[in-house]
Amino acid sequence: MIVLGIESSCDETAASIIKNGKIISNSVYSQEIHVKYGGVVPEIASREHEVQIVSVVQDALNQAELSINQINAIAVTYGPGLMGALLVGLNFAKGLAFSLDVPFIGVNHLEGHLYASLIDNEEIEYPFINLLVSGGHTQIWQVNNFGDYNLLGTTLDDAAGEAFDKGARLLSLNYPGGPEIQKASKNGDPKRYNFPRPVNKKSKLDFSFSGLKTALLYTCQKLSKNQITENLNHICASYQEAIVDSLLIRVKYAIEETGVKTISISGGVAANKRFREKLQADFGNTSKIFFPPMKYCTDNAAMIGLTGEIFILQNKKSNFDLKPVPNLNLV
Ligand code: KG4
Ligand code: ZN
Repeated sequence: MIVLGIESSCDETAASIIKNGKIISNSVYSQEIHVKYGGVVPEIASREHEVQIVSVVQDALNQAELSINQINAIAVTYGPGLMGALLVGLNFAKGLAFSLDVPFIGVNHLEGHLYASLIDNEEIEYPFINLLVSGGHTQIWQVNNFGDYNLLGTTLDDAAGEAFDKGARLLSLNYPGGPEIQKASKNGDPKRYNFPRPVNKKSKLDFSFSGLKTALLYTCQKLSKNQITENLNHICASYQEAIVDSLLIRVKYAIEETGVKTISISGGVAANKRFREKLQADFGNTSKIFFPPMKYCTDNAAMIGLTGEIFILQNKKSNFDLKPVPNLNLV
């Protein structure tokens, strides 16, 4: 079975070829144009997807040394994400599926991220805990089986990736903020500034990052421009540490609450080196941890193709009246 995966939910135009559960090719076009605006501009994202999608799909086919007629099915993200951006990928997939006379399946972007944590990893045993940390979502799931998920906690305000992006903006660093803050943290002292790691007593597994962002703003207001520049590595290291600690605290609570000791992480923030190091240091001896390869943490179509292939093998397919769902949930 050869599946073409397509992803266009935000600012990455991506395509991938999956053959019998293996990733044969992975093409991602990251829309750099948003950097100058300090965040994703939805209208521009849609237009960029329209311009790029044919060449990205062609690139995925070329890498796999396949022609379009050899595709057996198409898997495409239909939500959550930006309406216009989703429309481009979904309509492209529908048109292609119609002309090739192959089935297509709409895939939930979050489910794609969740299963990305299993790529290149040995077989994972159910149940496991997945920490899904991206620019739009921060959720902790108990995964009982494929398609069987319990939400243990979610963010009450910003997502972890959003906290990185907004923090970076405050510090005049580029978008996306996660990699920028990680880079600027080099040789910084993570204890130099004391940022909050709030826990809601009634819902310990829920996250909150808006206070942290405000704390960063207050810290910056107390410092001169020069002091910020001189201490940038310490500020970034301390800010990053607070985000990472907030995630780790919930992993601890989730293990305590469920008794499940297998953990996987996914989403753009799962690419964070400090997060990976501390997760391994804190839980590596007592839990089994599944880290996705770096390139499959951020948005990609391999995770969509792989997830879609499982549905196709279960004889599921979408109808041509499938619409994008910008606020789609996992359950
Ligand atoms: O999963 P993703 O590519 O897109 C969404 O579905 O949102 O995640 C993007 C988010 C951005 O907020 C970005 O700043 C963050 O992931 N990110 C990181 C790192 N790489 C990407 N955050 C922290 N450290 C990183 N190395
Ligand atoms: Zn994503």
